[in-house]
Amino acid sequence: MSEKLWIFDTTLRDGEQVPGCQLDTREKIVVAKALEELGVDILEAGFPISSPGDFNSVVEISKAVDKPIICALSRAVDKDIEVAAQALRFAKKSRIHTGIGVSGYHIQHKLRSTPEAVMEKAVRAVKLARNLVEEVEFYAEDAGRADPEFLTSIIEAVIDAGARIVNIPDTTGYCLPEQYGNIIRHLKESVSNIDQAIIATHCHNDLGLATANSLSGVLNGARQVEVTMNGIGERAGNTSLEEVVMAIRSHKEIPVYTDINTRKIYETSRIISKLMNMPIQPNKAIVGRNAFAHSSGIHQDGVLKNRENYEIMDPKDVGVEESSIVLTARSGRAALKHHLKLLGFEFDKEKLDEIYEDFLVLADAKRDIGRKDLLALLGEHIENS
Ligand code: KIV
Ligand code: ZN
Repeated sequence: MSEKLWIFDTTLRDGEQVPGCQLDTREKIVVAKALEELGVDILEAGFPISSPGDFNSVVEISKAVDKPIICALSRAVDKDIEVAAQALRFAKKSRIHTGIGVSGYHIQHKLRSTPEAVMEKAVRAVKLARNLVEEVEFYAEDAGRADPEFLTSIIEAVIDAGARIVNIPDTTGYCLPEQYGNIIRHLKESVSNIDQAIIATHCHNDLGLATANSLSGVLNGARQVEVTMNGIGERAGNTSLEEVVMAIRSHKEIPVYTDINTRKIYETSRIISKLMNMPIQPNKAIVGRNAFAHSSGIHQDGVLKNRENYEIMDPKDVGVEESSIVLTARSGRAALKHHLKLLGFEFDKEKLDEIYEDFLVLADAKRDIGRKDLLALLGEHIENS
């Protein structure tokens, strides 16, 4: 039986940490509303203690958005948690996301602390937050490089203290999919009270593995994924919402479903890219300009015979009207014939071969051939016939 996978969007918090991406409150509300329409379940609106601007954005997003749970980040520090709760006071449903570093690196070299003191702070933070908002999520920062036994005990302790979502970040994007999946499985098997909480994945993309790691987490029992639109985020970014959602939709053997309205993906991706000033690489999975563009002759011929020869998704499912057959010097006769037909022209094989010869010369010189180029080419051939 398929279980619900909660989509926790952190575009406005982890995504917005990227240099050059900063939005004002008005722009954040536009993004938040777009994400609400897309169907995200939890919207991480910001880190209220970090600046008055961020505090204000969390307040205004809480007022503007109705459906998703509104989440605010805090460190495991009393003041952070109190300010986060203040910022969330208008949210229809509120969550504080509090936590602390749990790896040896973070405990010794960042916090200059001890595992015992970290554990105490974590429990105290969750207990405080529990009394201020509806639900508490705990993040175990740098869990991907943490000692598994310490991770087990801190997760058990924060669940006892009242955390109902436990986030296991691969903060540095270090894990391989099998390793990350094993961490989630280990927690499922070793944390005695794990049935009282949902395990969340939060993967960074430093090795290009964020989506693979998140899916591995889901296959091993995680039921919340933390993602950003277009995968934006610190350094190489976070797990892409669109990649995880479409992988799950394309693979029925993954035993979960999401409530994302996938037909809104493309539009939402474009809104966010524009507002955040973050161009999308052309070959980006799902939302890149070339994600549904076929340019080589063999592929074009295959797609024209049957779309499924080279497409694993219907572009309409992500809000792209149709895939495109791009005319380049690598295109074959089938693609040229297709485009000529779209313009209302059909030719016998001999004439098509003739046009194709000239088309190749033009395409070598010009790279991409558009409608105007094709009409000019046709003009010459029709005049000469
Ligand atoms: O990557 C990370 O560990 C984080 C936490 C603050 C959740 O973003
Ligand atoms: Zn992160």
